[in-house]
Amino acid sequence: MTSTQREIEVSYDVSNEFFELWLDADMHYTSASYHTGDETLEQAQIQKCDILYDYAEITPDTLTLDIGCGWGSNLNYLHGRGVKRAHGITLSTAQCEWIHARKLEGVKAIVCDYKDYEPEEKYGALQSIEMIDHLCSPAQANKGMAIDIYRQYFKKCATWVEPGSCFGFQAILRNRVPRNRKDLADLAFTADVIFPGGLNPRLEELVAAVNPYWEVEELRTQRVSYGKTTAEWLRRMQQHEALIREKWGNELYDDYDRYLSTCVRAFENHYSSDVQMKLRKI
Ligand SMILES: C[S@@+](CC[C@H](N)C(=O)[O-])C[C@H]1O[C@@H](n2cnc3c(N)ncnc32)[C@H](O)[C@@H]1O
Repeated sequence: MTSTQREIEVSYDVSNEFFELWLDADMHYTSASYHTGDETLEQAQIQKCDILYDYAEITPDTLTLDIGCGWGSNLNYLHGRGVKRAHGITLSTAQCEWIHARKLEGVKAIVCDYKDYEPEEKYGALQSIEMIDHLCSPAQANKGMAIDIYRQYFKKCATWVEPGSCFGFQAILRNRVPRNRKDLADLAFTADVIFPGGLNPRLEELVAAVNPYWEVEELRTQRVSYGKTTAEWLRRMQQHEALIREKWGNELYDDYDRYLSTCVRAFENHYSSDVQMKLRKI
């Protein structure tokens, strides 16, 4: 079972205005890609999109699907690169409304579970940026179901493109289990309160699950980049502490402060990482 609509609302429908205060102006809610470490968050987010654009072998004529498109940050990037037609699916109504308000020519976004999505025509390329962590619950992982669930996802995605087409894929990862109670408790809090119903996959589960539908042509991890991204989100959010406490209450501020601080430590300590993969349909 994927995260339910209600669980997605907990994670993404807090308030668009709240997320605007600390994400970049384009509303990427996923790891940026820093190369030198001196880039701004905005530049590093574009660099992330550049990598996934190249991985998906997109050209302006490629009909492209972004699975789990968030507030449309990558769709906006595709539009900026001259891609004539790009589609997005998300489970969040607030995100979809935001995309429609952008009024991007050639961009279409709908609220739809990927499991129910039946496109009218084949896509030339697929992209998905940190959506797969919503597909398998901790309870299902405990029963050994994770790889099968991820494989169902990669199988379904493969039906939307022709053989030879590419998939620019990015996922947050869980690497190591903390050895101290505080970090364990903070990670459990993040999973239960901020992202209920989800679980970060392990790298080896993803590599196993793409088979037999996709070949992994390239793979890069970017743990340090996610640490820098979350540190910048935390810094920006803390700048608006008074406003957030006043508008949305102390609990929301404290929860997000704890969650983002936990993320910074999780990437520093190798509990979590992030992967980008170039996949080609077999
Ligand atoms: C962490 S956000 C990432 C958003 C965006 N890709 C970005 O880079 O900012 C995860 C996204 O996956 C979407 N999502 C989660 N489960 C989904 C599902 N089963 N079908 C379609 N979208 C889903 C959520 O609605 C959300 O837009």
